[in-house]
Amino acid sequence: MEDKKGAVMGTLLKVRVARREMLAEGIAGYELAAVDGAALPDFMAGAHIDVHLPGGLVRQYSLCELPGTQGRYRIGVLRDPQSRGGSARLIDAVREGDELAIGAPRNHFALQGGTQRSLLFAGGIGVTPILCMAQQLAREGRPFEMHYCGRSLSRMAFVDTLRGSGYSDQVRIHVDEGPPAQRFDARTAIGAAAEDSHLYVCGPTGFMDHVLETARSLGWPEERLHREYFAAAPVDHAGDDAFELELLGTGQVVPVRAEQSAAQALLDAGFPLSLSCEQGVCGTCITRVAQGVPDHRDLYLTEEEHLRNDAFMPCCSRARTPRLVIDLQPVNPSCN
Ligand code: FES
Repeated sequence: MEDKKGAVMGTLLKVRVARREMLAEGIAGYELAAVDGAALPDFMAGAHIDVHLPGGLVRQYSLCELPGTQGRYRIGVLRDPQSRGGSARLIDAVREGDELAIGAPRNHFALQGGTQRSLLFAGGIGVTPILCMAQQLAREGRPFEMHYCGRSLSRMAFVDTLRGSGYSDQVRIHVDEGPPAQRFDARTAIGAAAEDSHLYVCGPTGFMDHVLETARSLGWPEERLHREYFAAAPVDHAGDDAFELELLGTGQVVPVRAEQSAAQALLDAGFPLSLSCEQGVCGTCITRVAQGVPDHRDLYLTEEEHLRNDAFMPCCSRARTPRLVIDLQPVNPSCN
């Protein structure tokens, strides 16, 4: 979650589904090619794209393999029973040959530079960005170890790809239903914090929290823990109160009712705001806070960034003070 510059959605790219295949039980893979046949923009491991689905939904999917010579993108989509309709709509309605609009790749989960050792942890569909990281690290000849956890092999995508790769000896696959000896033990896999190591994790929230908490208990400092959430846990809105947003330098005040989000109040009042995930995961709506204390409910900013209280996510976060003074200018990276 290092690069938070993607606060404004860019131009959309028109792509065609060149290939669709089932990668595992409940997981479909899509290969996307530019409609005009040109190579799609390059990207680095950890990047994701916004996919604009039929019916107006926009969902984020990690790019799961580094681009080959054809300049195409590959994404893996899990039919998630908890999803708000995006994954099911994509899997059910989008077939080979269909056209889609996507955003250019954005990267909030980039690998750190340098020659440090990387520890990669993937849970379930969280393998998509982590596979890409393994590919990039292997290509660059940098040291890494990857742990991939899942309930059963039949529900785990890319197992054959990993086992057949040139870096398979750096990959450990842990299956809940498999023999006890191969099951995932976070303390053993993570180990003591080494000066030059970075840890990356992606997967279901419970898995990620377990990995991150274990790493912290082993002495890993926060700046060497990197994560990407797919979705936020449901939030209880019963105690939400109304508050006000004042637009810096204008004196204009936008009331936010208890039952609406700050983002909705701003849009209803005619102020431009780019939204994507609408659950505090993607970073698209990041907004600078000049005064007041936000009630942070996102998974995008780190704890340290939350404590600074100089930015918030109006799609999901609210206010602890009666008024927040905000600046709707695109966020300058230096304030992150
Ligand atoms: S729209 Fe994704 S964090 Fe707000």
